[in-house]
Amino acid sequence: MTAMSSGVSRYAQLSADEFRTRLPEALAIYVKAMRYPEGTAEQRAPMWLTHALREGWRCIAALDADDALLGLAYGYTGRAGQWWHEQVRHGLARRSGPAEADRWLNDYFELTEIHVRPENQGKQIGEDLLRRLLDGVPNANVLLSTPEGTSRAWKLYRRTGFVDVLRDYQFTGDPRPFAILGRPLPLDLR
Ligand SMILES: CC(C)(COP(=O)(O)OP(=O)(O)OC[C@H]1O[C@@H](n2cnc3c(N)ncnc32)[C@H](O)[C@@H]1OP(=O)(O)O)[C@@H](O)C(=O)NCCC(=O)NCCS
Repeated sequence: MTAMSSGVSRYAQLSADEFRTRLPEALAIYVKAMRYPEGTAEQRAPMWLTHALREGWRCIAALDADDALLGLAYGYTGRAGQWWHEQVRHGLARRSGPAEADRWLNDYFELTEIHVRPENQGKQIGEDLLRRLLDGVPNANVLLSTPEGTSRAWKLYRRTGFVDVLRDYQFTGDPRPFAILGRPLPLDLR
């Protein structure tokens, strides 16, 4: 599948400033792609801006010929003390032991968000974003969390070699079961 038929004109690594400028556009895609209710964007905005300040943060955008955002992916270096890290460490240590938790969590990149505009999904943009985001990431592993169930996201992660780290995990404050998936890096550009 070519970049032309997917509607993508170019992929660009965004600086933190460019990310801030495009935040409303990015959150609109996120809310639509995840089918979240109105108001979710306002609630998430401060968190996304905080993420952009973290060590190792990087973001890849898929842009069309008019420079509009079709999708984006971002993540950063996971560190002890971060909410997600502590939640996953707790769950993984309890289920598989502290050594297994260390093996995954001592040196990893957290793939925090990946979303493609619904009209543009299924055209390999997600995979292109994922591969470009992880290209050159210096960490030993990449980890992510995704709701349990069948979805395009699951297909993408399995296709790119992600394995189960922790299944059916409930994060504090969210009743949905999540899977934590991971794989060693690097992931080839193809
Ligand atoms: C998850 C997500 C980012 C994946 O992006 P995407 O662009 O749809 O992903 P891809 O196109 O790379 O892969 C998805 C599909 O395209 C197919 N595909 C990939 N490469 C292809 C190719 N060369 N030719 C034909 N089909 C292809 C895949 O097999 C897959 O099949 P499906 O349509 O049956 O699901 C996107 O679907 C999305 O935003 N989903 C909602 C939000 C979400 O769940 N985000 C992740 C939260 S953890």
